[in-house]
Amino acid sequence: MMIVALNNKCNLTKKEFREYQIKLQEVKTTSKLILCPSFLYLDQFNLTNIKLGAQNVSTTDCGAYTGEVSAKQLKEENVDYCIVGHSERREYQQEKNEEINEKIKRLFSYQITPILCVGEKRSEREEGLEKQVVLKELTMATKDLTEEEKGKVIIAYEPIWSIGTGLIPTAEQIIEIIHTIKEMFPQNKVLYGGSANEENIDTLKEISEIDGYLLGGLSLKPEKLQIFLEKLEK
Ligand code: PGA
Repeated sequence: MMIVALNNKCNLTKKEFREYQIKLQEVKTTSKLILCPSFLYLDQFNLTNIKLGAQNVSTTDCGAYTGEVSAKQLKEENVDYCIVGHSERREYQQEKNEEINEKIKRLFSYQITPILCVGEKRSEREEGLEKQVVLKELTMATKDLTEEEKGKVIIAYEPIWSIGTGLIPTAEQIIEIIHTIKEMFPQNKVLYGGSANEENIDTLKEISEIDGYLLGGLSLKPEKLQIFLEKLEK
């Protein structure tokens, strides 16, 4: 079954989220949908056709950590999945691989499945470093996990130069990276993320190595999301 994770990022007011949920309820799909809304709306989530995810988690458990949200708190909100290591957090919050590793361990201790984002910058691809970058991120983020835990991590390959830009890599580029990932992580689901939409899905769906998608911009447009899913599942 395809996995399609919806990363709302820092979007939607409370009223907009209510309307959005009503539209999402109507979406027909055979894929596993995972909605990752703002923390603020986790407790308003009421859809039965979709799983709930968060966009981030604290490296710490509950305690004196102002502004943090712990894995324990997420679990109480029925969160089953959590994005970690998104490139926006790596860039704007200076999140490091060591912290991402801590977050993944916290999530596993509350039976929450991590969706680990990895991917190279444009300059890194220009220098031919993409495989090296992705493997380093994966190795560091999964350090000291059990083999069973390692196998459960959902890996999202998101080339940073593709996110929100409308540019997608060629099929050969995606396949090459996914093969590299699967050599090291043969059991893991690998998603593609970065400007995936209802138009380029015709091309992307031909890549049999892709186990699903992480959608940012498209996640906010339920009608276009429906077209995306119909094409994906045809
Ligand atoms: P995008 O974002 O689909 O808007 O490119 C993907 C992501 O950042 O997860």
